[in-house]
Amino acid sequence: MVTTDVAVKFTLNGIPMERDVPPNWTLLRFLRDGLGFTGTKCGCEIGECGACTVIFNGEAVNACLVLAPQIDGASIWTIEGVASSGRKLHPIQQAFVECDAVHCGFCSPGMVMSTVALLLHNRIPSNAVLKESLAGNLCRCTGYLQIIEAVRKAAESMDDMHLEKFRR
Ligand code: FES
Repeated sequence: MVTTDVAVKFTLNGIPMERDVPPNWTLLRFLRDGLGFTGTKCGCEIGECGACTVIFNGEAVNACLVLAPQIDGASIWTIEGVASSGRKLHPIQQAFVECDAVHCGFCSPGMVMSTVALLLHNRIPSNAVLKESLAGNLCRCTGYLQIIEAVRKAAESMDDMHLEKFRR
């Protein structure tokens, strides 16, 4: 079957882009195979593990559940765009390091992106809200206590300015 690529305009990590995308590709495949943004991880590909979490118009979504043509007009942030410079970690990433919330690192990009989305909407989340917001992100080595501690530390230590760019 012949498929025709679809023209899309979108913003990725603050940079406007125009591309032609295969209509049957997911956003996850487009990011990794089409653009080389491999920081977004591919786990289950059925919306169960959260490894592919990105920010899509200010919300955390599983990139494996979004078709690439759906990004037309959207603003997308991936883990590659979280730190402002190549050398200095974003406060959320720094909190994950300081709280020993990273072991193998496979789930970490998705955890960080879910944390960004949480704190965009709720700067002082309760423990219940915090846990619920990470419920879609699975970790199989670090343990969730350190991750929750890291999110709490980031929430308490970060300025609003560190979240501002994700609103655009
Ligand atoms: Fe998308 Fe697991 S790869 S949720």
